[in-house]
Amino acid sequence: PKITYRTYSGEERTLELPEGLSVMEGAVKNAIGGIDADCGGACACATCHVYVDESWLDRLEPASDMERSMLDFAENTQENSRLACQIKVKPELDGLLVQTPESQH
Ligand code: FES
Repeated sequence: PKITYRTYSGEERTLELPEGLSVMEGAVKNAIGGIDADCGGACACATCHVYVDESWLDRLEPASDMERSMLDFAENTQENSRLACQIKVKPELDGLLVQTPESQH
């Protein structure tokens, strides 16, 4: 499935990622800026905070309690804020667009 990452300044990169990888892991492996993932995907740092394109929001699994409470630590969260390490790549998400927050660049 293809996942597109957009920076706050509008630069986009689309990656073809294997199923099962997280959106965070895909970014880190491919040197996408703005996703630091300090905790390595344990839902414990909030530095993988991304904004999910509105049209994709209801196609994602809802955020767990743990993800929601960790998002409280992220800066400038919005309705469409998610942690990229908690979004697993799957065929249904082909075309997913996420944006990295300005505060993480
Ligand atoms: Fe730390 Fe996602 S990588 S919360």
